[in-house]
Amino acid sequence: MTLTATAPAETLEASYQQAFPKSRALHERALERFPNGVTHDARYMYPFPVYIDRASGSHKWTVDGQNIIDYWMGHGSLLLGHSHPVIVEAITAQAARGTHFGACHELEIEWADQVMRLVPSAETVRFVSSGTEATLMAIRLSRTFTGKRKVVKFHGHYHGWHDQVMDGIGPHHDRPMPGILPEVFDALISLPVADLNLVEDTLKQDDDIACLILEPTGALFGGTEHDEDLVPGLRRLTEQYGVVFIMDEVVTGFRCAPGGAQAYYGVKPDLCTLAKILAAGLNGGAVAGRADIMALLDIRSDSEWQTTKKMLHYGTFNANPLSAAAGIAMLKRIADGRDIAIANERAALLRHQFAQVLEDHQLDGWRVYGSFSGIKLSPVREPGTARRGNLNLLHSIRQGMLLHGIDFMGVDGLTSAVHSMEDIEHTTASFDATLTRLRDDGIIA
Ligand SMILES: Cc1ncc(COP(=O)(O)O)c(C=O)c1O
Repeated sequence: MTLTATAPAETLEASYQQAFPKSRALHERALERFPNGVTHDARYMYPFPVYIDRASGSHKWTVDGQNIIDYWMGHGSLLLGHSHPVIVEAITAQAARGTHFGACHELEIEWADQVMRLVPSAETVRFVSSGTEATLMAIRLSRTFTGKRKVVKFHGHYHGWHDQVMDGIGPHHDRPMPGILPEVFDALISLPVADLNLVEDTLKQDDDIACLILEPTGALFGGTEHDEDLVPGLRRLTEQYGVVFIMDEVVTGFRCAPGGAQAYYGVKPDLCTLAKILAAGLNGGAVAGRADIMALLDIRSDSEWQTTKKMLHYGTFNANPLSAAAGIAMLKRIADGRDIAIANERAALLRHQFAQVLEDHQLDGWRVYGSFSGIKLSPVREPGTARRGNLNLLHSIRQGMLLHGIDFMGVDGLTSAVHSMEDIEHTTASFDATLTRLRDDGIIA
């Protein structure tokens, strides 16, 4: 049996409307205040998103009172789950001592110490406020360092929402997104697949390339898979062609291993970008890497340096004391790798059990995959078509899962170290019940 959308999800939608009336009321207020009523594109959901009242561990409680198991985990930042006592204690103690000194402080040094202890390539560090800012900085540093202009990335790899890394749109991805200047878009080479031969041809043919950036475990934390030799091969090629190699470890940092994907692969990038787990659920990011590249942030008395090399960098919330306190507590806690191993084990079990559910339902058109603490559900598709092919169906799955007490990021999920075996069993049963419901409603054949 294959999974196809054969009927609109009217019944399911009616149940959804009934189950979450307070969320609907809040969404109606939000619509008057925010475009689409949301503050993040990924939180948009038709007919309205679920509103959350509080969270603890692996669970969140909706404003309508449902207890749901969370697989968003703060967009990947909560490896220890919501409000872990170690993090709450660090934040609470620091809040009473001051949240913003507008000055240097010891916590930023300790935070950097933790990063430099864990992350192999981190010779020095600069804190910023988000992953987007981190990739922006890494790209600008590599342009100054090499004196070259262009950025190479892989299609679908997400590096934040700033202009330099926005993939093209249209059938051939050759038009800039609205608002992106053509000259900025021209400086981006987004390769359709992460393939070493293609990269080598590109680097060989164009001597104006400043950097190559990638998500080291594949687009969107493993949504695309690549060969084991990709990352070491990219290290070799970028070195050979004098291109700065940036690993975007905003998600993989402190999630794949205490030292990130670079520690897992045993490959040191020139620069890496960090955020999410780095600041334990508060805002924060960092660029770390080679001291000679990071030195372009130096202020020097030499006016030649200041005008030709120095990268200007301000930022009200850089190394914010609250984020630093939370981040230090997080990095100390995860350094021995035990929490990461638990999150990985739970995700592996969930992938295994979801695959069994798909088999029981004879839904051979779908597969479940992922690596480390990620779970991804995907219809089998023709090469070249989008993973998120059937939007109605994916939408119904999300609604059905929420009705059965599970909040997946669409069809992706992330585990934490506090997802219990009970959570995994409950999630599997909910997935099974969701598919039964979709069949009963005629949404899947
Ligand atoms: C790999 C990667 N890089 C960069 C970013 C941007 O980080 P932020 O949302 O903190 O700006 C994200 C966010 O999801 C990400 O997944």
